Amino acid sequence: MKSTMPKSVVIRGTGSYLPEKVVSNDDIAKFLDTSDEWIYARTGIKRRHIAAEGEAASDMALKASLRAIESAGLTPADMDLVIVTTVTPDMLFPSTACILQAKLGIRNNIPCFDLEAACSGFVYGVEVAARMMQSGLYRNALVVSSEKISAMVDWNDRSTCVLFGDGAGAVVLSASDEPNIGILGSVLGADGSDNAMLRLPAGGSLMPPTRQTVEKGLHFLQMDGKEVFKHAVQIMKDKALEVLDLCEVSASEVSLMIPHQANVRIVESVAKRLHIPMEKVFLNMEDCANTSSASIPIALDSAIRSNRISKGSYVLFVAFGAGLTWGATLVKM
Ligand code: ACO
Repeated sequence: MKSTMPKSVVIRGTGSYLPEKVVSNDDIAKFLDTSDEWIYARTGIKRRHIAAEGEAASDMALKASLRAIESAGLTPADMDLVIVTTVTPDMLFPSTACILQAKLGIRNNIPCFDLEAACSGFVYGVEVAARMMQSGLYRNALVVSSEKISAMVDWNDRSTCVLFGDGAGAVVLSASDEPNIGILGSVLGADGSDNAMLRLPAGGSLMPPTRQTVEKGLHFLQMDGKEVFKHAVQIMKDKALEVLDLCEVSASEVSLMIPHQANVRIVESVAKRLHIPMEKVFLNMEDCANTSSASIPIALDSAIRSNRISKGSYVLFVAFGAGLTWGATLVKM
């Protein structure tokens, strides 16, 4: 086999895209029985970006991808692999990754596929791409997470719609001959027995869309917020510690933790249990809300562009989501 195995896989470029339209908590309070005080105190969210009508996951993915590819100093033609993570694909099939490939105008002999691990999708996507790249067969991979959650929530349900936003984040991963840098390790996991805690029941093969499913609102996201909260804190803490242990790096050596941006109270509880001060935790849910799998790469891009990450520093991603799924990745930038 003609391939050279790389010594490491590095994050060579990042990009993100947030739709132009911003909806504040006060805007929502105009049509729902809620308030900025309630939402902000419970979640840390003030506003969210909402995609335009007709603006699909692939459109947002395209914008984030082009920015990531440009920041990597590469062109779309240099990509050897495209993974899109999303719970809000353009359509059930073909994959959003294939639609994105066409929009990027890139060659047709590379693998392109969607990966669905809900809010943990980006961490899963990076690990899958990195492992594929370690074969030596793929030098540059585009991992892009794009979510239009606004299309899947019931805008009359105050217990869910206030939590989410739309957007996309992307990274270009590249094979490197420098050892001990880039993606140092990941831990991934899932527990499908808790799949009803957070789900969108209708629209798949179990419950194809009918007038009844629509009338009953079964094509909207459903969530047991309290249970999600409890599980998220425990699992995110455990997985962060596991990946640090795997990589033989201590929590105090972490320069920046970039957690899934679901809720500031979840993040504060996790950081406290890890003894990581909040100054070392990147937060943007105040402006972006929860963008599911896109939240970590959007935050990463923002952290890099605002000089919060220096070369050689340790950055920790940690995520938790529907499935249940979870994952943590340690990166040496
Ligand atoms: N505005 C005003 N009142 C509200 C709202 C709202 N938007 N939403 C719910 N309430 C009311 C409820 O109806 C309830 O009223 P009641 O006591 O009269 O019945 C009251 O507020 C308390 O509701 P709880 O659900 O107990 O509120 P809680 O403190 O648990 O906060 C929340 C709810 C914010 C959803 C919290 O459980 C949470 O953050 N959970 C994590 C969920 C999450 O982040 N999910 C994201 C997807 S999963 C992921 O990304 C990891």
